[in-house]
Amino acid sequence: MKRVAILISGGGSNMLALLRDMGQGGHPCAPVLVASNDPAAGGLAKAAALGVQTAAVDHRAFGRDRAAFETALLQPIMAAKPDIICLAGFMRILTPDFIRRFEGRMLNIHPSLLPKYPGLHTHQRALDAGDAEAGCTVHEVTADLDAGPILGQSRVPVLPGDTADTLAARVLVEEHKLYPAVLRRFAVGDRVPLIWG
Ligand code: GRF
Repeated sequence: MKRVAILISGGGSNMLALLRDMGQGGHPCAPVLVASNDPAAGGLAKAAALGVQTAAVDHRAFGRDRAAFETALLQPIMAAKPDIICLAGFMRILTPDFIRRFEGRMLNIHPSLLPKYPGLHTHQRALDAGDAEAGCTVHEVTADLDAGPILGQSRVPVLPGDTADTLAARVLVEEHKLYPAVLRRFAVGDRVPLIWG
């Protein structure tokens, strides 16, 4: 049974999708922690309601000292002894030191068809570029932001009249299916990328 810690910054809809899937029988993973850089993250209460250990370390208390914030965040993470870390709507850039600790066993979901549109505002950028399709990517986290080995992608059409919000909503539905499916495979050593749509 692989122990999974999930890092969030907000509502945690992807975290919830992962927890719900891990709650199914026969899943190779079990959740051991949901942690956030924001004590007010809505996902923390949702995780606690599902009986999952939670932790919050307010990054604002550390100013610009990213390393000090991560040292504090590592406390509850290491105490949970995770085998795998899932970033799910986690909005802090992690230092290479932190990433090195979990290299090869830290995943992230990004709301674009990487390598297109790393970083923020992915849906607006796809609309501005006139792309016919958009989507989401689950990838391994490496020191290069949003650039690690791709483990899964799901494509959706861009429709006439789409706004960033309507496109984000369509992609989010796919995120909630893709991330759990990729985690199941990743946990049993399957690295063949899942490509949908
Ligand atoms: C989602 O678009 C996800 O792709 C990105 O953050 C957004 C919110 O995620 N990483 P969640 O609802 O907090 O899981």
